[in-house]
This record gives sequence, C-alpha cells and structure tokens, in this order.
Amino acid sequence: MTEQESLISTRVIKVDPEHPEEGSLREAGRIIREGGLVAFPTETVYGLGGNGLDAGASAKIYAAKGRPSDNPLILHIADPEALTDIVEEIPEAAKLLMERFWPGPLTIIFRKKDCVPYATTGGLDTVAVRMPSHPTAQMLIREAGVPIAAPSANLSGRPSPTTAEHVIRDLSGRIEMIIDSGAVGIGLESTIVDVTGERPVLLRPGYITYEMLEDLLNEVQIDPVITETKPDPNLKPKAPGMKYRHYAPKGDLVIVKGPMDAVIRAINEACEKDHAAGYTTGVLASSEAAASYHADVVSDCGSRENLEEIAHNLFAVLRDFDEQGVEKIYAECFDGEALGMAVMNRLRKAAGYHMMTVE
Ligand code: TXA
Ligand code: MG
Repeated sequence: MTEQESLISTRVIKVDPEHPEEGSLREAGRIIREGGLVAFPTETVYGLGGNGLDAGASAKIYAAKGRPSDNPLILHIADPEALTDIVEEIPEAAKLLMERFWPGPLTIIFRKKDCVPYATTGGLDTVAVRMPSHPTAQMLIREAGVPIAAPSANLSGRPSPTTAEHVIRDLSGRIEMIIDSGAVGIGLESTIVDVTGERPVLLRPGYITYEMLEDLLNEVQIDPVITETKPDPNLKPKAPGMKYRHYAPKGDLVIVKGPMDAVIRAINEACEKDHAAGYTTGVLASSEAAASYHADVVSDCGSRENLEEIAHNLFAVLRDFDEQGVEKIYAECFDGEALGMAVMNRLRKAAGYHMMTVE
C-alpha cells in the first residue's frame, strides 16, 4: 500500500476465546461475506480472513499483507462436510489425518474443485484446507457461511502474530476488523501435509510433529527444504510460501550452536564487541541460561525442557526485539526433534540461515 492510498478505519472487537457470545461475530461474518477482511484468532496464530471463494477478497488479502500473490492461501472450514464442496477427492491418508487431528493445527493439501479461484491458490490446482479448533475461529466461519481464506495476519516477512496487539501493529488501517481473543495457544503456524501424491509429504512442520504423522501414516516424506541449514538454490519448496524470507526481526539474527558453556561465552563476547561498536544487543535465551548473558535485552523464551513453551513465545520474543530497537540478536540453538523441528525451521528462516558453531 502506498502512502497516497487512504487508510480504512479498523474496528477492534473483544471476544471471549473459550465461549464467544452468541451473535458477537455476526457483523464480522457479514464483512467477510461481503468481500471485506477480518483478522481473527486461531489456536496456532492470528489469521487474516476473507471469503476464500471470492477472487477479489483474496486479492485484497495479498494487498493488505504486501504478499506476493503466487503464495497460496489456506482455506479454513468449521465442519468436515464443507470439504466436499471445495476438493475433488479425499484420499485415504487424508481421512485418517482428519479423524485424528481435526479440528486442530493441521493443514492438508487436496486437489481443488473449480469453485476455488486460482487467486486463492496462487495459480495451483491444489488447495490447502484446515479446520481450526479455536472457538472464535469456528464461530466466525459459521457466521460467514463460506470457507475463510486466511494467511497469518502479519505484514509479509514479519513474524506471525500471536496476539491481537501484533495484528493491530501490522494491519491497522488496512482491514475492516480485528477480533481480539487474547494470546493464542500454540504460537507457530499449522503443520502442512500434502496427500495428493503417492506418499504423504510434510511441507511445513508444526505442532503436529513428523513423529505423530509417521506414527499414523508410515512412510511420510519430509520436504528437504524444511530441515536445510543453508538455502540450496536448486531446491524448490513444495509449499511456495516456504521460499520467502520470513519471520524476520529487523535486527541481524545469528543462531549460535554448541555446548552451552561455549555458546554463553561466544554470545557474551559478541555482544560486548557489538555494544562497544554502538549497537543495541539482544539474546534469545533459554530459561536455563538467561541469567548468564550480558546484553541490552535478554529475552527468556522458555525452558529447554519444554519446547511447547519455546514455540509459544518465539514469535512474540522476535517482535519484542524490534520494539526495543535491538540491532544485533544472538539466539541459542534448540533440539530439532519433535516440536523442535518446527521451532528450528522458523528460527533458521528468521536468521536468514545465519548460524555460528562454537566448541
Ligand atoms: O496456522 C496456520 O496455518 C495459519 C492460521 C491463520 O491458520 N495460517 C498460515 O497461513 O500460516 P500462511 O499463508 O501464512 O501460510 C500458508 C502456507 C504457505 O507456506 C503456502 O505456500 C502453503 O501454506 N500453501 C498453501 N496452499 C498450498 C498448496 N496448494 N500447495 C502447497 N502449499 C500451499
Ligand atoms: Mg505466514
């Protein structure tokens, strides 16, 4: 959006996350039905919602986020029955996944029906669908009466929003309404699985882990870009959005890997040098080590023993470095197993794959 374009007035409404009041989302549903945009909470991150069957609404979503339009959107439904209206077929693997993980933080890729516009799928013949468990999200979808296309409700490139305040910062003046139901539960975007090929492929790791998928389906492939530690120009991610620089704070972020003593020593040395050069420094720390760092801002992201806590806090901590004007950020490295695969995938992207190994 250029400065000349007039800003629209954005209404913020508060809605109880557990028991949204009957009728409280009627107006929000009407806005979506009529082609407008409403940001809303889900259990993963806040989404920027529009009518997923309306090419014009999808175009507005891309414009509001400043997002390239070849990056497809996820359709959100409130009932599994709604799936048959938008997808050509439901493969066996998808049925198993839906039964086990819907409603919840899992997105499944299907072959789309004609009614889903290419404007929503970024020109692809497949469509991403998810059924969120958040009561506010479910009520909004029912009120709207259409599948809601929703990317994360951040400006393109910034960390995904986990509170309504994050959304207000990024999108106020660009969309009609923001629904505030407080902080989300999980904090990382949904796991994405493609079931359109011979074998299921994990396209984006999330709260539903590779281990959980493998346990249910066997022989799940992992899109190699997920775990790469250095971007390989020859690898093309199967989820187009995974190719973009993402989740990045404004400051330079470096992940420091190695035994904890060495990591603490290296980070403190780097911060001292940066500080002397006039930079504001920050550390993304585990609770276990937070007290050992000397930097302008030390953010405790949670315990190493509790990756759910780290996942929940990660994006808020990255945004907070921006708020505090931190220019040089050093992050501890976390274990890449289970939920750690999703945490490290987001952290590596946030760092632009900048990693330092110490001994
Ligand atoms: O948790 C979430 O999934 C959140 C909430 C709001 O539901 N949404 C979200 O959307 O993270 P977004 O747009 O930020 O990320 C969608 C990802 C992108 O990487 C995109 O490329 C991929 O899903 N995707 C969407 N449709 C696809 C398709 N047909 N084939 C492959 N990847 C697809
Ligand atoms: Mg996103």
